[in-house]
Amino acid sequence: ALVAAPLAGTALVGCRPGPSASAPALPGGRRALPIPPLARSVVGADGVRRFDLTAQAGSSEIIAGRRSATWGFNGDVLGPTLRARGGEAVAVTVRNRLAEATSVHWHGMHVPARADGGPHQMIEPNGTWQAEWTVRQRASTLWYHPHPHGVTEKHVYRGLSGFFLLDDDAQDALGLPSEYGVDDVPVVVQDRKFTPDGALDESGAGTSGLIGPTVITNGIAGAGLLARRGRMRLRLLNGASARCFEFGFADGRRFEMIASDGGLLAAPVPLTRLMLSPGERAEIVVPIAAGERVMLRSYPTTVRGRMSGDTARAYGQDDTLDVLELVGADRLESGAGPVPRTLAGIAPLAAGATTASPATRTFDLQWYMINGERMDMSRIDLAPVVDTTEVWTVRNKDNWPHNFHVHDVQFQITSFNGAPPPAALSGWKDTVYLAPGDHCALAMRFTDYTDLTLPYMYHCHLLLHEDRGMMGQFVVAGKGQTAPTRLDMAGMP
Ligand code: C2O
Ligand code: CU
Repeated sequence: ALVAAPLAGTALVGCRPGPSASAPALPGGRRALPIPPLARSVVGADGVRRFDLTAQAGSSEIIAGRRSATWGFNGDVLGPTLRARGGEAVAVTVRNRLAEATSVHWHGMHVPARADGGPHQMIEPNGTWQAEWTVRQRASTLWYHPHPHGVTEKHVYRGLSGFFLLDDDAQDALGLPSEYGVDDVPVVVQDRKFTPDGALDESGAGTSGLIGPTVITNGIAGAGLLARRGRMRLRLLNGASARCFEFGFADGRRFEMIASDGGLLAAPVPLTRLMLSPGERAEIVVPIAAGERVMLRSYPTTVRGRMSGDTARAYGQDDTLDVLELVGADRLESGAGPVPRTLAGIAPLAAGATTASPATRTFDLQWYMINGERMDMSRIDLAPVVDTTEVWTVRNKDNWPHNFHVHDVQFQITSFNGAPPPAALSGWKDTVYLAPGDHCALAMRFTDYTDLTLPYMYHCHLLLHEDRGMMGQFVVAGKGQTAPTRLDMAGMP
C-alpha cells in the first residue's frame, strides 16, 4: 500500500503560491519572496521515497506586471524542493513535456552513474527517466538542474532548477533554525536580462555566457522576505549562468556561515561578505530585529586574481545589486537559539593516508578546454579506483574566471594558492571558484559505486564554458579493473 508521507518536522506547503502566482507585496513595496513548495513524495511498501518531476513550458511574472515565457518543473518556473534523509532510498521519475530533449542532474549528490542525470541520461520529448539511489551523505543543500550537452545554459536560464535538501539526525540535534519557509529559507539567486517585449533575452553571450542586470530570487525580481523570527537561516544558491555574487548586507552586519556545498562546516564562520560562484551553495544565519529592514546585496568581487578591469565588467564583477530585502516583523516569534559553537566533525581526507600516497592529477583550465581537450561524449578522461583518495590540482590558466565542479563526490580543499583555504572554503565542497591565475588542490574519495560504461562529469560551472566543451568524463573503476579509454556509444540507452 502507498502512504503519503510528508517528512516529520516540515510543513507540507504545496498550497503556498509558487513563483508563477502573483506575489503579494510586503510593506514598502517589495514582492514577497516565493517559497518553492516541498515536493510531495510517497513511500511505498519497499521503503522507497518516490518523487515525480515534470519539465514543462509555461510563463511567469519574473518582473511585476509582465509575463515572460519560462520553463519549470511541476509548474511554470523553477521546481519544488525535494527533501530526503540520510539512509533513505529515493526514486525520482522525471517526465519531459518540453519540445526538446533535456536531462536532470542532482548537483552535489553521491549517486550511481546511471542515476546522475548528466548528458548520457537524456530524456526525449514525451519521454520518462527514472533515477533511484540511497542517500549516503551528510545533511546538505543540494540542487537539481538540466545537463544536456551544449544547451545546459539555456535550459537553466529558462527556469529549470530546484533545491534538493538532505537531512540527518546529527544536524537535527543542533537546534538550528529549521522551519521550512519560515526561518529556514531556500534562496536561489540568478540574473536575467529581458528583451523590450518582456521575453528572457538569450542573446549576446560573449565569452562569459548570459549575464543580466536584473537579479531574481526564487524566480522573481524585487523580492523581500518577511522575517518572523530573530534568526533567519538562508540557504543561498548561486543559480546563475556566469555571474558571481559577493553577498553582504547593506548595513555591513555580520552573519554566520554554517554550511558550504556538502553540508555543515566544523564551526560557524562569522562573515560580512561571502562570494558564491555559479553552482555553489552556502547556508547562513543572520540576525534581524523587529521592524527593521535590511537589504542583502551583491557587491563588486574582492578576489580577482589577475583579471583585468574589462573582464571583471564583462563578467558582472563590478556591479552592486540589490538581491533580497529582509523585513523584520513588527513582533517576532520566538525561534531557534544561538548557533552552536561546534557544528560537525570533519576528518581531513588526505591526512592519514598510511598506505600509498593518494593519486594526484592536474587539471589546467584554459580557453574552453581542460588540459587542452574539449568535452567528447565518447572519451573517458580518467578512471579513479573505488575506495581510494585522490588529490586533484586545478589551475586557472586563463585571464577569465572559471570554477570547477566534480560530480559524485564532495571534496576538501587542501590548499588554495599554496596556503590553507579560508574558513568559508574549509568544509565539504563540490564546486570551487578560481579567479584568473588561481590554483588549488582538492582531496576526494570515490566510494560505493563502480561502472565502466557510464561516466560522471567534471567541468567549469560557468554554463557557457561547460556548453562549449570545458568538461571531462570519469568512470569509477572497481579494484583491479581496467577502464577503457572510449565509451561504446552504440550501447548507450
Ligand atoms: Cu551543477 Cu555538472 O553540474
Ligand atoms: Cu569557465
